[in-house]
Amino acid sequence: MKITSILIAFSAILLPILAQPLDKRTDKDRQVEFTNDSNDVKTVFGKPYAIYQPKVVVVSMFMLERDPWLKDMDFVHNVSIPGLAPLYPQVHFTTDYSIMQFTTGEGEINAAASVSSLLLNPLFDFSKTYFLIAGIGGGESSLTTIGSATFAKYSVQIGLQYQVGYNEYIKTNPNWTSGYFGYGVDNPWTYPSNVYGTEVYELNENLRDRAIQLARTGELNNGTERNVEFRTLYEEDAAKSSPSIVACDVYTSDNYYFGNELSDYFKSYGEMMTNSTDSKKFQYCSSAQEDNASLEAFLRMDLHGLVDFSRIVVMRTISNFITPPPLYANDTVGYFNDVDKGGIQASLDNLVNAGKPFVEDIIKNWDDVYSHGIKPDNYIGNILRTLGGEADFGKESFEEA
Ligand SMILES: *[C@@H]1O[C@H](CO)[C@@H](O)[C@H](O)[C@H]1NC(C)=O
Ligand SMILES: *[C@@H]1O[C@H](CO)[C@@H](O)[C@H](O)[C@H]1NC(C)=O
Ligand SMILES: *[C@@H]1O[C@H](CO)[C@@H](O)[C@H](O)[C@H]1NC(C)=O
Ligand SMILES: *[C@@H]1O[C@H](CO)[C@@H](O)[C@H](O)[C@H]1NC(C)=O
Ligand SMILES: *[C@@H]1O[C@H](CO)[C@@H](O)[C@H](O)[C@H]1NC(C)=O
Ligand SMILES: *[C@@H]1O[C@H](CO)[C@@H](O)[C@H](O)[C@H]1NC(C)=O
Ligand SMILES: *[C@@H]1O[C@H](CO)[C@@H](O)[C@H](O)[C@H]1NC(C)=O
Repeated sequence: MKITSILIAFSAILLPILAQPLDKRTDKDRQVEFTNDSNDVKTVFGKPYAIYQPKVVVVSMFMLERDPWLKDMDFVHNVSIPGLAPLYPQVHFTTDYSIMQFTTGEGEINAAASVSSLLLNPLFDFSKTYFLIAGIGGGESSLTTIGSATFAKYSVQIGLQYQVGYNEYIKTNPNWTSGYFGYGVDNPWTYPSNVYGTEVYELNENLRDRAIQLARTGELNNGTERNVEFRTLYEEDAAKSSPSIVACDVYTSDNYYFGNELSDYFKSYGEMMTNSTDSKKFQYCSSAQEDNASLEAFLRMDLHGLVDFSRIVVMRTISNFITPPPLYANDTVGYFNDVDKGGIQASLDNLVNAGKPFVEDIIKNWDDVYSHGIKPDNYIGNILRTLGGEADFGKESFEEA
């Protein structure tokens, strides 16, 4: 027995006494499996030492998103976990260990590495856990405004493309609207011939819609007087209005873009990638830097029963508009750099205002509604159909590259 196994076994005995966790796992279907078949070894590990089985995990990406939860709810236990972001090494539990808060660190690399580490930790059983990814993001002015809370069905990674600088395409390709184009093709309007597999995720719409209904029972922070004033500069009704709860989709990119040119290009790219033929299917409305990365880690673990991909909700509250209002269209950079135009506080408050009713509902209705899962009626999974099922986007097969 290795030292680590001894430590884990020891913790398994000791921690229940210290932690009094809510649900200790007992199911037989998560035992260790080891198949030695013709030199093609397949391993599946269960979580025989799991102690913690939270009912819901709130996933934040950085301190500002985490703190409203730590302040609002009674997160009294801190637990350090190997592999989490150096800035956020601990997860936090409420008194009875039923609700957990976890911070990934910002950007795709932090998100993927942190979620993977968390889900593989032997002391945690997340097979029945619900995840609320609760972050702030940029908002699209035709669907959202400062403070709005958006709940996604699709999460699309837009950064995985070729990119060339303006001066090097504009003379030869004057009708390109940005320097981006898809892998394996030679222009921005053609569907990529190869993908990395993380370009598009589709989430459980039934669960998403329940979270939306619950979010509508909360009251949203309307923003500062300055935010109210700033909204009037936009032409779109959504941008001019008070914040609301919106069902619409999220983008992931390490590249923190803003402005009309890139927003318009990525809108058309997202529609192409989700095979969106009508405007209702896929509706791009927020931009952020982590969701596809986190979803990729969740998806891989779902494949081995360590987590349930149908139990994930992605919520992004809007801290700022992605594009400037017409008055500032001549100075997009100046607009972006003037933080005073944003609504960071409203978006942070609204993480809790819009997300907490769902968190509380999970605890309140665990036995009746949540423990056995909320069945999706739509396809869930990625562009490669790794979890099975028929996706109405992507292709049967892609070139390998
Ligand atoms: C595992 O597979 C190898 C290669 O096929 C074989 O030689 C060995 O006997 C197998 N071991 C067990 C425990 O089945
Ligand atoms: C738990 O973590 C929070 C957030 O990092 C911190 O403010 C708090 O002091 C920690 N509590 C203990 C007991 O270490
Ligand atoms: C852009 O220009 C190319 C070359 O002239 C042409 O083939 C293509 O159809 C144009 N695309 C669009 C969307 O206008
Ligand atoms: C990101 O996730 C969304 C939704 O799950 C998915 O539609 C999109 O294709 C993903 N994008 C990438 C580049 O992986
Ligand atoms: C809330 O915001 C909307 C849109 O900016 C504005 O019309 C309304 O007057 C605001 N309400 C309050 C109470 O400030
Ligand atoms: C942009 O237009 C506004 C309003 O017309 C003007 O006040 C401002 O000076 C212009 N800014 C730039 C950088 O040209
Ligand atoms: C999505 O669009 C691409 C490019 O037009 C096409 O090859 C693919 O078959 C479409 N997928 C679905 C599911 O319709």
